[in-house]
Amino acid sequence: MTHIASPAGADPSQFAQLLARYERIIEISQQLNSTLDQTVLLQKIINASTELTNTEAASILLIEPGTGELRFAYASNMKPHELEDIVVPLEGSIAGWVTTHGEARVIQDVRREPQFFSQVDDTIQFQTRNILAVPMRAHDKVIGTLEAVNKLNGARFDDEDIKLLTTLASQAAIAIENSRLFQQSDFMSEMVHELRTPLAALKTSTVMLLRPDLPGDRRQDMLVTMQQETDRLIGMTTDFLDLARWESGRARLQREPFTLAKLIAECLDIVHSQGDERGITLRSHVEDATIDGDRGKIKQVLLNLLTNAIKYNRDYGQVSISAERAWHEGTPLMEIAVTDTGYGIPRQAQKNLFQKFYRVPDTAGYTQGTGLGLAITKHIVEAHDGEIWLESQEGAGSTFRLTLPLET
Ligand SMILES: Nc1ncnc2c1ncn2[C@@H]1O[C@H](COP(=O)(O)OP(=O)(O)O)[C@@H](O)[C@H]1O
Ligand SMILES: [Mg+2]
Repeated sequence: MTHIASPAGADPSQFAQLLARYERIIEISQQLNSTLDQTVLLQKIINASTELTNTEAASILLIEPGTGELRFAYASNMKPHELEDIVVPLEGSIAGWVTTHGEARVIQDVRREPQFFSQVDDTIQFQTRNILAVPMRAHDKVIGTLEAVNKLNGARFDDEDIKLLTTLASQAAIAIENSRLFQQSDFMSEMVHELRTPLAALKTSTVMLLRPDLPGDRRQDMLVTMQQETDRLIGMTTDFLDLARWESGRARLQREPFTLAKLIAECLDIVHSQGDERGITLRSHVEDATIDGDRGKIKQVLLNLLTNAIKYNRDYGQVSISAERAWHEGTPLMEIAVTDTGYGIPRQAQKNLFQKFYRVPDTAGYTQGTGLGLAITKHIVEAHDGEIWLESQEGAGSTFRLTLPLET
C-alpha cells in the first residue's frame, strides 16, 4: 500500500477532494477509451468536463480534417443544428487562439476580453461569463479545443482546474482520434466487402467468355451480366464517394431556386419504366412551390425514395408521391411524402434504416442495393434544414415523409 501524505501546509480536506478528482479522471479516461461511437464519446467528454471543473457548460471544438475549419463538434445545451454552421475563426476567437498556440487560456471575465467570439451566445441565447479553454492534443497534434464555461457559485478558475481539464483534454483527444480511425477502417472494410460481389460476377463472366466451347447465346448472356455488374459498380462507387464527402463535411450545397412540380415530374419519368416492368402504378398529387435548394441533390433524394418504393413493393402495387404546403413552429415548409404498398418495415428495423449499410435482413435476398441511399438522403435533407422520417406498417406498406423549409 502506498501512503499519500498531504503536502505540508495544505488543508487535508481540500487535499482529499483533489485526490478524488484525480481518481475520477482515471476512471473517466478508461471509459473514454472504451467508447468508439463519436456522439456518445463527445457527450461523455462534455459531462466529464463540467463535472471536473464544476462548471455550467462545456464545448468541444474540432478542426475539420477536410477543410481545416474550426467548428463545434458538441456542446452542452445546444441543439446540433444550431452550432454546426458556425465556423469559429482561428484568429479572433479564444478557441482559435488555443488551437493554434496549443496553450491553455483562462478568461475570468469575458466582458473584458476583446477576443471573445460572441456569435455562439447570440445563437443559443446563453450568457458566457468566464471560460477555461485548453488544447486537445493527440500524438503531438492539436486537433481542437475543450472549453469549460461559467464556474458555478461565482468561483474563479484555479490552477487545479487548468491541470485537470488539460489532462482530460488530452485523454479525450486520443479517444476521438481512435474513434475516427475506427470509423474509417470500418467504412473501408464494409466498402471493399460490397465491391467483391460484383467483381466476382465480372471475373466469372470473363472466365466463361474465354472458353472456346461456350455457345453463342450464352456468350450474349455473359455480356449482359457484365454490363449490369459494371453499372452496379459505378453506382456503388458513386454512393461511397458521396457518403464519404458528407461524413467528412466536404459536401456542399449549390442552392438556386427551382420549381418542385417540374422536378417531381422529371423524377417520375426516370423511374417510370422500372415501375412498368413489375406492373406498379405511379401517382402524384403535387402542390407546386419554389424551393431554394440544391436541385441535383433533392433529385437524388426523390429518386432514391421512389426507387425504394418500387423496389420494395409487391408486383402490381402502387407508389404515390405528394407535396403540400404546411407550417411548423411558425415557418412555412413543403412536406413531401412517398407512399408504397410494399411489405412494410418491421418496427425494430425502422430506427436503423437511415444508417449506412443497413438493409432490412429479408430484403437483402431478393433485391440488390448497398444500404447507402437512405443515409445519403438524410444528410441531404438535413443540410437543407429539413427532416425525414417514416411511417410503416408491416404487410401494408410504408410512407417516407420529408420537409423542406420555404422562403418567408
Ligand atoms: N419503401 C421501402 N419499403 C420497405 N423497405 C424499405 C423501403 N425503403 C428502404 N427500405 C429498406 O431500407 C434499406 C435501406 O435502403 P437504402 O439506404 O435506400 O439502401 P438500398 O436501397 O441500397 O438497400 C433497404 O435495403 C430496405 O431494406
Ligand atoms: Mg435505395
